[in-house]
Amino acid sequence: MIILGLNAYHADAAACLLRDGKIVAAAEEERFRRIKHWAGFPSQAIAYCLQEAGIGLGDVDHVALNSDPKVHRLERLAHMMRHRPDPALVLDRLRNRRKRLSVSDELVAAFPGQLFKGTVHRIEHHLAHLASAFFASPFQEAAILSLDGFGDFSSTAWGSGQGKNIAVERRVLFPHSIGLFYQALTQYLGFPHYGDEYKVMGLASYGRPLFLDRLRRVIRLEAAGGFSLDLGYFRHHRERIAFDWQGGAPVFAPLYSDGLEDLLGPARAPNEALTERHRDIASSAQALYEEVLGHILQAVWDNYRLPNLAMAGGCALNSVANGKIRQTTAFRHLYVQPAAGDAGGALGSALAVWHKHGGDRTPPMDHAYWGPGFASADIDRLVMAEAANLAAMGCEIGHFDDDAELCREMASAIAAGHVVGWFDGRLEWGPRALGSRSILCDPRRADIKELLNHKIKRRESFRPFAPSILAEHAAAWFEGIDDVPFMTEVLPIRPDKHALVPAITHVDGTGRPQTVRQKANPAYHALISAFFVRTGIPMVLNTSFNENEPIVCTPREALDCFLRTRMDILVLGHVMIRRRQDTGLLGLPDSRYAADNHVSDSHVGGS
Ligand SMILES: [Fe+2]
Repeated sequence: MIILGLNAYHADAAACLLRDGKIVAAAEEERFRRIKHWAGFPSQAIAYCLQEAGIGLGDVDHVALNSDPKVHRLERLAHMMRHRPDPALVLDRLRNRRKRLSVSDELVAAFPGQLFKGTVHRIEHHLAHLASAFFASPFQEAAILSLDGFGDFSSTAWGSGQGKNIAVERRVLFPHSIGLFYQALTQYLGFPHYGDEYKVMGLASYGRPLFLDRLRRVIRLEAAGGFSLDLGYFRHHRERIAFDWQGGAPVFAPLYSDGLEDLLGPARAPNEALTERHRDIASSAQALYEEVLGHILQAVWDNYRLPNLAMAGGCALNSVANGKIRQTTAFRHLYVQPAAGDAGGALGSALAVWHKHGGDRTPPMDHAYWGPGFASADIDRLVMAEAANLAAMGCEIGHFDDDAELCREMASAIAAGHVVGWFDGRLEWGPRALGSRSILCDPRRADIKELLNHKIKRRESFRPFAPSILAEHAAAWFEGIDDVPFMTEVLPIRPDKHALVPAITHVDGTGRPQTVRQKANPAYHALISAFFVRTGIPMVLNTSFNENEPIVCTPREALDCFLRTRMDILVLGHVMIRRRQDTGLLGLPDSRYAADNHVSDSHVGGS
């Protein structure tokens, strides 16, 4: 049975294909369209999924969409009567609803000449999130929680999963949403783009929660894990704010009202300097989010008393809060699949349909490599075509038949302070680069932000970098660590290790690790192992392979990114492209960073 799952007309449009309940392919549309968070109908991601499966549209038995406009009709009506929203908002919603109802027409239009004979299923937005969390998890039994801005008129849902079944116990409906609260505060702090919430999360660790008391007026905690927003601080319940899109980057109007500025002071303009007040407000917003999450989780725990928790929805990407769950609640194991945001609805809706049809339980998703991969021949062809150009630009090309030799060479280069673009295997599913499309550096460098900003990325100084660590060494470096293959938890780094890895140690002594198992990604595991042999440090700094764009998908995009930045080395499978002339390490002598075998790290520690 072939099931095609879609997240369409939402941010992070995506497609996922299951064959007999097993994932064959999953990818976000933004990776193909090259526009971050692309929202609309994911025709290119669908085309990729069909190609990966070696089938045509006519072979698809079921299409599952993570949206069902028919749910909560009475509640929608009651809301309209109560709040009398802008008529343009109502028209917008109706238009989008009509659009969503014609998904089979959209499919046929996107694949001219192909017949679609399958059945279309609409899976309620949060049920799709919950299905993506539970059915992809290793748990046979778990409490499940979905938290986001909004989808199908609700923002929160929780319940339990058992074997092939999911039961939803409770929901929080529009206009109340902890995800929307966080998004509104993100806008207030001068980060207007969809998906900027992680910037506030990063900024929060530099501030103190001095506004927490004041902010508590914005959200009221209610019995049995419920909560409500004080709507006086928001606009989304009465004004025209898009939650659905027909193509392009998702754009939101301001979600907060003047009331929030009366409460916290003037909002920050996007280019305004960040002050202590902004950092303190970020810290307070994060603290309030954690309070509300804790309140919900307590109710969920009280209800089920199950040690396992699976989470999804955009809020499940709040890795700082996630990292505290096992410390502050009774839950012992947490699973967050890599595309926990709306893209994951493509996976979840497909999984929901599969299990509804009585299919065997899907194998746990223990790696994220479900996107396009490229044959060595494709890479060789590209490199040959570009050979003269690369030579003219001062690049050397090397081919490595021996994997171990390539890993040793890369480990030496990273240890010598070079910035390496690593392109290997299939593209990651979800927002994080996890060792297929990654830029790698030495985690021992104290000047990493300056170095990476100089060579590749212009990004805010408060945004931390994260490590990929050999799973077998993780407990020696991080406190309270379980498996975190998808970088979904920020955890305390053991105090005696802070000085050894200043590049990935946040200001508050935490880090956001990816635990790498040999089985999940043998090539990446071998590379980090080689770095460990070289330096005694079982991790590398891993940042996404891109430059203000979606993560690179193809070898061509990786090469273009390499050439337009000052990256030192690009590895495309077995090909290494190295700039002959080092672009310089900010005027610092290489010897300061050159690593001998098992070097004493005192000379780089925290200085
Ligand atoms: Fe969602």
